[in-house]
Amino acid sequence: MSESHELETIEIQLLLEGMFRYYGFDFRNYALASLKRRIWNTIRSERLTTVSALQEKVLHNPAYLDRLLLDISVNVTAMFRDPSFYISFRNKVVPLLRTYPFIRIWHAGCSTGEEVYSMAILLQEEGLYDRCRIYATDMNELVLKTAKTGIFPLKQMQEYTQLYHQAGGNKAFSEYYTAAYENAIFRSSLKDNIVFAHHNLATDNSFNEFNVILCRNVMIYFNSHLQERVHKLFYESLGMFGVLGLGHQESLTFTPYEKYYEPIESSEKIYRRVK
Ligand SMILES: C[S@@+](CC[C@H](N)C(=O)[O-])C[C@H]1O[C@@H](n2cnc3c(N)ncnc32)[C@H](O)[C@@H]1O
Repeated sequence: MSESHELETIEIQLLLEGMFRYYGFDFRNYALASLKRRIWNTIRSERLTTVSALQEKVLHNPAYLDRLLLDISVNVTAMFRDPSFYISFRNKVVPLLRTYPFIRIWHAGCSTGEEVYSMAILLQEEGLYDRCRIYATDMNELVLKTAKTGIFPLKQMQEYTQLYHQAGGNKAFSEYYTAAYENAIFRSSLKDNIVFAHHNLATDNSFNEFNVILCRNVMIYFNSHLQERVHKLFYESLGMFGVLGLGHQESLTFTPYEKYYEPIESSEKIYRRVK
């Protein structure tokens, strides 16, 4: 390892340690390569030159922390993202859920909420929403604030309409929102059974027992140590025969928890706890 590379690694470890000890945000077990890239994006946009300079700013001014959090916690999301996932959910998971009198769903790492509203729409269409309670959590308060509004940019509705239909929706997607200036304001009834809350997968514990846990495109940013922590948390939070849904690029394979699940739809990373 070259000297400058070694110094950079030490500085990053110190920054992450400081963020954890002072603010409680634990990025120490995130995948290093992408974390580094994102930290450097922040350094450049703040017109700084070293990781240590960023550390000084972050520890003395929480506004820098907020900006760094937004940069390092990739918040990209979309309604009906990966439509094939929703098709499988409708075809394979909904029939299982129909057998339950009450259904608890946890969206972990929900970002600005688009996937949660998508699920609420699907469940309303399947006549299950009234028996559901959806817990939508993220470690980032700023994205949760947007999620709670249920208001998204109108210009995205054309794309979301297509994704909704590809995901098996057969109504007019515009039934679900009202256009107001640049915004699409989603029907407030979609929010009736959703609880948005702060939860950090790196540091917090289980808070309920669920029938479904969806954590899509979140663990991809974690190293194997943190992924294992989260799989343990999910295993302990799922009732027997509960359903776990991961992102397309994520998997249970090769984790110590693989043996406790059976695939419901392998290609969509949908599993069912069987032990
Ligand atoms: C790329 S988004 C995925 C959003 C959505 N699940 C989807 O698939 O479209 C990743 C989200 O995970 C959240 N996240 C990252 N680390 C987290 C942690 N330790 N605990 C809870 N949420 C976390 C980020 O704040 C971000 O909102």
